[in-house]
Amino acid sequence: MISRRDFLGGVATFAAAGGLQSRPAAAGDPFVVLTARPDEAPLAEGLQGAGKTRIWGYNGSVPGPILRYRRGDRVRVRLKNELPQPTSIHWHGIRVVNAMDGVPGLTQPAVLPGESFDYDFVVPDAGTFWYHTHARTWEQLARGLYGLLIVDEDEPPVFDRDIALALDDWRLTEDGQIEEESLGSVHDRAHLGRLGNWLTVNGRSRPEITVARGERIRLRLANTANARILELAFPDHSPMLAALDGSPVPLQPLNGSPLILAPGQRADLVFHLKGQAGARYPLHEVSQEQPLEFAYFAYAEEEMRDLGSLAPIASFPPAKHPPLDLSSAVTADLVMTGGAMGRLDGAMHGGVMRSMKELAAKGIVWAMNGVAADPDHSNDPPLVEVARDTTVIIDMVNDTRWPHAMHLHGHHFRVIRRDGRAIDSAPWRDTELVAPDERVAIAFVADNPGKWLFHCHMVEHHAAGMATWINVTA
Ligand code: C2O
Ligand code: CU
Repeated sequence: MISRRDFLGGVATFAAAGGLQSRPAAAGDPFVVLTARPDEAPLAEGLQGAGKTRIWGYNGSVPGPILRYRRGDRVRVRLKNELPQPTSIHWHGIRVVNAMDGVPGLTQPAVLPGESFDYDFVVPDAGTFWYHTHARTWEQLARGLYGLLIVDEDEPPVFDRDIALALDDWRLTEDGQIEEESLGSVHDRAHLGRLGNWLTVNGRSRPEITVARGERIRLRLANTANARILELAFPDHSPMLAALDGSPVPLQPLNGSPLILAPGQRADLVFHLKGQAGARYPLHEVSQEQPLEFAYFAYAEEEMRDLGSLAPIASFPPAKHPPLDLSSAVTADLVMTGGAMGRLDGAMHGGVMRSMKELAAKGIVWAMNGVAADPDHSNDPPLVEVARDTTVIIDMVNDTRWPHAMHLHGHHFRVIRRDGRAIDSAPWRDTELVAPDERVAIAFVADNPGKWLFHCHMVEHHAAGMATWINVTA
């Protein structure tokens, strides 16, 4: 296996602001077309002897086109499936109507090869979101089926540069192809998930991001990896955190600590660029012993403005979330078990009690409350069923040796308790990392009717049983 740091020059440059933007293809047809199909992409540029990588992407690229809207816009996307297997699109973090949520077996039938499906919904929140396949995600996401979706504020805060970066972790062979033998392997399922050996930023290895001294930038970051928890550092720069999972937070400097992004999570950073004109500064991924340079700020020779004339950056206006009423909340306990070095003697699976041995033969190694989810969710009981507008608390206990990035569809939540300690005004999120042995309670108002998945976004864990759903009745 090639080393994660086995990079050899070959630096890609891209115009980072905005990226590609899809527009309706034909006049009169309001639908943007996303065709899921096999293609090739220059992921492994810089890896000696590697050619283009065979990927599955939207409209032939990895990531797919950046979809950009304004808050309140209607999104109309026609998914065309030219893959050899069924697929769907999930709009991660967006509070969509349930029928558009893209979960095969729960909210729609999977879109068969040769067929298409029209997604049509309104985007109620501004922020940094992403879209991705939700069918055989452990394979289809690993092959490249994802893209960013940006929703602009009613009055977008003004920046000189708005840069959106999708960070992905690939497991490539020495000739730069996706390593296929281990896709969905039981080993990966029972450990951290599919960890890769090759990091890309917008589908390129170690790109240069062109910037200028004195600019104020908004840097949107998304972790689109199957399983790797990223830890990002910005040496010689002083970013401030402005939003998590799309929802604004009061501005807070990172103060030298790395930004932790679990799979599925996003963050918006804002800051002034104060490096030297003409210089190049690496951005670091620091979860391993050696920092990995994953991209560079390449400063132009000319400065944008004098550092003495920089105006302060303000917090973004908060997103609108209904108030939590904890006194009348319905609480659902959720105990996670299983995985390597964990406990799991057996579990309900597909409506039947199965022994550990039977489960493992199907690649199922995790359970929540004694239920190991079915890949199509159709035989699984809901974690909880509530009437619309009920405040729900999910009190999670991670009784496993592994971290889990728990993602709720259709709603945003906040952490209200961690290991017995009450937490006030935690950020609104859609994905929360729960450490081994940790107990984390989240709360949200179930104001969006329908069947909403709640699962681990280490997608091998999801495939191996870590999913449940919440029924919100109208
Ligand atoms: Cu980003 Cu259910 O997923
Ligand atoms: Cu997990």
